[in-house]
Amino acid sequence: MIRTAGLIAGHYECRSFDETIPILTDILALEVLTNSDSEKVLKHPNTAWRLIAHQGGANAPDKPLRNHYGVRVATNAEVDRAFEYLESKKKEYRIKIIKPKEYHNAYSVHFYEPGGNFWEIESYENAVKLSMGKTTDPHWKELLTQDRFPGRGYIPQALTHGTIEVDDLEATQVFYQQGLGLEVVQLWPSSIYLKHPLSPWYIVNLRVPKENRVYIGKWQRFTLSVESGEDVKQAHEELKASARQFGIDQLEDVREDSQQASFLFCDLNRNWWEIASLQ
Ligand SMILES: [Fe+2]
Repeated sequence: MIRTAGLIAGHYECRSFDETIPILTDILALEVLTNSDSEKVLKHPNTAWRLIAHQGGANAPDKPLRNHYGVRVATNAEVDRAFEYLESKKKEYRIKIIKPKEYHNAYSVHFYEPGGNFWEIESYENAVKLSMGKTTDPHWKELLTQDRFPGRGYIPQALTHGTIEVDDLEATQVFYQQGLGLEVVQLWPSSIYLKHPLSPWYIVNLRVPKENRVYIGKWQRFTLSVESGEDVKQAHEELKASARQFGIDQLEDVREDSQQASFLFCDLNRNWWEIASLQ
């Protein structure tokens, strides 16, 4: 089993930074930490993991609604105000909005941004009242205040989750727990929530029949950290040895530069992951 230090990043492919980054900062309260021509590293002020955006150009594919990221607000009323703000920005940003709805004690609004991606702004106000547990407990120690995100009527308090499609929940759970040493929470029959034991953010794994699967590429991967470059090599050896057991689809070579060692692999569901040393 790999000893991971954290779930440190989710990746995000858009078509054009100029088009998508203003949406992520204005609507979702993400902040740009570092810039380069090929990627932009974003972070929510109340959440430690990063969102690493890649510019895929005009032909970057549309990702399905079942592969989205989500931020969380503190109250259901803020979801309605977020919907109003989205409506007011619809033309400027060329976004498409799905009206707010309640599902599994979450009240949320989804929207599509023209970079090819869906987002969710959600409230777990009711889930918190019902004490549903780990994934729905507040993801923040302190609430951000209006001055950090003024004028919208709502405040995204955390970047809480990503979602991916999987084929077989049981086999996936075995791989996550025994192969990657991660935590799995199951609240509903058709999904599992994957998280690192040390952090509250999570990845919802939705079971989808094979004929309906939409396969996403490396630019939508998630990054797990290990302590050192040596640990990256060790993790690579372990995955190579257990590839058959866990149905690993592809395992790329370790790459090293002066700052970091890392490698990519594609799992039993053909979803992509990265194992990287802490920088
Ligand atoms: Fe979601």
